[in-house]
Amino acid sequence: MYSASESRYEKMKFNRCGKSGLKLPAVSLGLWHNFGDNGDFGNMEKMCFTAFDNGITHFDLANNYGPMEGAAEINFGKILRESMHRYRDEMIISTKAGYYMWPGPYGDWGSRKYLIASLDQSLQRMGLDYVDIFYHHRMDPETPLEETMEALEQIVRSGKALYVGISNYDGPTLEKATAILEDRHVPFIINQNRYNILDRTIEKNGLKEKSKELGKGIICFSPLAQGLLTDRYLDGIPEDSRIRTDGRFLKESQLSSEKVNSIRALNEIARRRGQTLAEMALAWNLKDEYITSVIIGASKPSQILDNIKAIENTSFSADELKEIDDIAIKIQ
Ligand SMILES: NC(=O)c1ccc[n+]([C@@H]2O[C@H](COP(=O)([O-])OP(=O)(O)OC[C@H]3O[C@@H](n4cnc5c(N)ncnc54)[C@H](OP(=O)(O)O)[C@@H]3O)[C@@H](O)[C@H]2O)c1
Repeated sequence: MYSASESRYEKMKFNRCGKSGLKLPAVSLGLWHNFGDNGDFGNMEKMCFTAFDNGITHFDLANNYGPMEGAAEINFGKILRESMHRYRDEMIISTKAGYYMWPGPYGDWGSRKYLIASLDQSLQRMGLDYVDIFYHHRMDPETPLEETMEALEQIVRSGKALYVGISNYDGPTLEKATAILEDRHVPFIINQNRYNILDRTIEKNGLKEKSKELGKGIICFSPLAQGLLTDRYLDGIPEDSRIRTDGRFLKESQLSSEKVNSIRALNEIARRRGQTLAEMALAWNLKDEYITSVIIGASKPSQILDNIKAIENTSFSADELKEIDDIAIKIQ
């Protein structure tokens, strides 16, 4: 029977999510990969326990995480039921809907019909009465924004989510969404976007600046660029790496020799700072007071332990930042 470590709150840093009352751990765990039908359940359990034992209270899911779609929620639900349910009130569990989930016109994008049905399914898969954060997963160019936001309002009013967030939105759409949700007193507190040393999209599309201005949190996904910003690919492609074991979202073709050279150069800066490249990459995100948390993925518990060390040193000199930018610009 799992019993959480007594020292679980000793090291983790908790950051306030924008201007809300909710604090999130600086490092959160995402279940996009390695929690599907093809994963090892014992390893999934160990990763959740390692995370929670070290202050990672936040577990991020989505309806479609697998493979197959829904499998990550089913496996996480099993872990909760069998081992972690007594810690439910110490946990922040999020899920999302917005990408393809089931056939036909009601299992994708941002209609009220899809979001409400999808969250009901997610709750059932995880065996929960409510999630802490429910996200709309991506902008929908066809559904009126009011309808999607009204669905988020309905979800909160029905008690199935405590807070709501939006993911993969840009600055102007975030502003419009905020106006609708605040008018209706919906607890919209967080943006979830990709942000890392190599991907600066949110600096360019206004999301980062607008979040700050509107008092919303930012939680960054793929902060390690799916493993590129680690020591994984410094000397070839390991057989147990994401490129080899999955290959759907991170492909060998994304690893040019120019990119490997740049990653080696970043690794050298990390070494000088006394960090692993993964630690430095996460620290780079967390240096910014407007970043609430980074959602890491992991294939083994040891990676989680390494990544948590990032919080020990999140300050960078101006020279280090410039050196990192100069390298990143070449391979963006
Ligand atoms: N909202 C959205 O649209 C969206 C999109 C994508 C992701 N997300 C969320 O963000 C989470 C994280 O995304 P991600 O998995 O791409 O994150 P990531 O942290 O950038 O990449 C995780 C991968 O990097 C490798 N890794 C992690 N720590 C390492 C270490 N210390 N040393 C060496 N390698 C290490 C592992 O790959 P190996 O398998 O090679 O070991 C791991 O699976 C997801 O689970 C999900 O919750 C959200």
